[in-house]
Amino acid sequence: MAILVTGGAGYIGSHTVLALLERGDDVVVIDNLSNSSKTSLERVTELTGKVPTLYVADILDKQALKEIFSKHNISDVIHFAGLKSVGESVRKPLEYYENNVVGTLILLNEMLRAGVNSLIFSSSATVYGNPEKVPLSEECQVGGTTNPYGTSKLMVEQILRDFSHAQPEFRITCLRYFNPVGAHASGRIGEDPNGIPNNLVPYISQVAIGKLECLSVFGNDYPTPDGTGVRDYIHVLDLASGHLAALDHKAEGSPFKAINLGTGVGYSVLDLIKAFEKAAQTKINYQIVARRPGDVAECWSDSSLAKQELGWIATRSLDEMMRDTWNWQKNNPNGFGS
Ligand code: NAD
Ligand code: UD1
Repeated sequence: MAILVTGGAGYIGSHTVLALLERGDDVVVIDNLSNSSKTSLERVTELTGKVPTLYVADILDKQALKEIFSKHNISDVIHFAGLKSVGESVRKPLEYYENNVVGTLILLNEMLRAGVNSLIFSSSATVYGNPEKVPLSEECQVGGTTNPYGTSKLMVEQILRDFSHAQPEFRITCLRYFNPVGAHASGRIGEDPNGIPNNLVPYISQVAIGKLECLSVFGNDYPTPDGTGVRDYIHVLDLASGHLAALDHKAEGSPFKAINLGTGVGYSVLDLIKAFEKAAQTKINYQIVARRPGDVAECWSDSSLAKQELGWIATRSLDEMMRDTWNWQKNNPNGFGS
């Protein structure tokens, strides 16, 4: 039996493929390489000595999915493939809904046809919109998303919930990631954003390496301990192990689960700058600017359901997250292109 990983050449996908191969699973990847390169999986092979089967194809391509399901004995699907830039989603909503929502519908139909009934979906803390409280537990209200990317995640969760009522033999887990950061400790795979990064940690690391001049800190007048935004940063390898735990516990409980993957600890933008400076032994040039529209003051998880349902907790500290980010950045100043 094999695990099908959609979007497996991407940031979180490649770290999860590595973890699956390391524990002896067979892995088949479908990725259109729209936001990644084959090099990530070549490096996964270099690190594990194992080769995942890669199909360079789109999940919107029914024929390609049919071929994969007929050629391989797939037991489970981990579904990372999708577009993830908040700003771009505002400019290109149709592309986002097509890729993220229609893509998932096509995948589900092909799973149904092939009799594959286990799915883990990459959701996001963004489904909580403006958090009603922190820490955010799965009982908190979802909705109120402010951009097509977030809404696409919310829609897919709803579709999956409805689908699980109609197909109770399915086992569906939506994992709501908080803020993934970090890289494999080898420095061989990591996050390789296109163009100027939107997210904090890739931005800080490009300032540290000298590719960007100065970090803009978006607001220091939030009602938080130091006035800057607070988030729940989680090491990408902890996320990867969360997927393995979700596979192991899929048969328990209800056909549909939505579970937070976070550390349960919030850090501010200034905390991150300090931790990065320590890891990289360099000063990060930054200036305080206005708040970024759409940002919330604080967002961190109650991660007790993941412990209870999956036996999983995040184990890596902020220092490890920053150390591994820096190790990846300094060894690959131009990402996989270097
Ligand atoms: P990523 O862009 O690095 O990986 C996504 C992969 O999917 C890429 O390799 C891309 O080429 C591929 N892809 C996109 N559309 C495709 C399609 N139609 N067919 C085939 N392949 C396609 O992103 P990531 O950070 O690894 O995120 C993985 C998933 O987790 C995404 O669904 C994302 O929305 C979700 N997520 C990410 C974050 C984050 O901060 N990184 C947070 C919450 C949720
Ligand atoms: C953002 C998205 C969220 C998505 C997540 C993926 C927005 C509004 N939200 O979350 O939907 O799921 O990325 O990881 O885009 N910051 C700066 N300067 C920067 C960049 C960020 O000060 O140059 C601050 C932000 O104001 C925030 C924190 O750093 O307080 C984290 O920002 P970011 O990494 O972009 O993640 P989120 O905004 O939490």
